[in-house]
Amino acid sequence: MIGSSGDLKCRSEVQIALSMKICSSIAEGRAACRAARASGKRLGLVPTMGALHEGHLSLVRAARAQCDAVAVSIFVNPTQFGPKEDLAKYPRPFDRDCRLLEKEGVEILFAPAVEEIYPKSNSNAEGTWVVVEGLSEKLDGRSRPGHFRGVTTIVSKLFHILEPEAAFFGQKDAAQLAVIRRMVCDLNFAVEIVACPIVRESDGLAMSSRNAYLDGEERRHALVLQRSLQETRQRFQAGERTAARLIAAAMEVLARVPQVALDYFEMVDPETLDPVEQVSQATLVAVAAYVGSTRLIDNTVLNP
Ligand code: PAJ
Repeated sequence: MIGSSGDLKCRSEVQIALSMKICSSIAEGRAACRAARASGKRLGLVPTMGALHEGHLSLVRAARAQCDAVAVSIFVNPTQFGPKEDLAKYPRPFDRDCRLLEKEGVEILFAPAVEEIYPKSNSNAEGTWVVVEGLSEKLDGRSRPGHFRGVTTIVSKLFHILEPEAAFFGQKDAAQLAVIRRMVCDLNFAVEIVACPIVRESDGLAMSSRNAYLDGEERRHALVLQRSLQETRQRFQAGERTAARLIAAAMEVLARVPQVALDYFEMVDPETLDPVEQVSQATLVAVAAYVGSTRLIDNTVLNP
């Protein structure tokens, strides 16, 4: 488990070997980010749960390009996992992640233990939560109750601790992006939210830390998510604008791979996440499905 004392020891060993500053306490993380900003530098933050891949690294590169100093957080946030989800088995290749971030020229890595972030209130019983009412129950929030509450609470904490000028998120998690944008707007966080495009494997599968759970056959089945989105895009490009018909066509594609259990396929407004009937403005087409026991998501945006 991340946060065990063994883990912390391994972190300090890594720290000796690398020039990137690795902070495991809130005080260290805050001080390092304040120091980075002290000379008027723009600080960019890339929040992650680790098990880094090219998708994460694309956010780091965007932050590098748009900011003077880059901080990355690695924290497998327990409050965004449901009781039956993969918190215990979520991959935690911490040393490898450190090496990747070091290569990207990241200045600060904030990698706190669970007890550092949630010393008291790591349960539903009590404590302070940040909830974006109305959005948090949509898309992934519907099938993962409490998930977005966990996300907005940890992201708020990271913003308060590290005080970045800009924070970088992937379009891959489109609903998460909408929820975070709304939180930043409603709570007047002084941080610019930058969205970065989805990075895919060469065969089109959206990169995800959870792809590591898939065996060879599941990996092939998983490609149907991307195919269902392509089907929608092709019909849209051929002139179809009615969401119900676009969704029906995608469903047919998904039904051809019965090993993939659909969670949702929706066409929604990218900001409000409300369903659209006609594609008359930018529309988020989002899909979530279980391949075996692994839940995968993907999406595309249609622009009339
Ligand atoms: P995680 O799943 O580790 O993702 C960290 C960031 O990387 C998110 O902004 C996500 O959208 C982005 N990302 C993941 N796969 C991507 C891909 N294929 N292309 C582009 N970006 C990609 O999302 C989380 O962690 C957590 O919910 C977090 C925001 C860190 C809060 O705990």
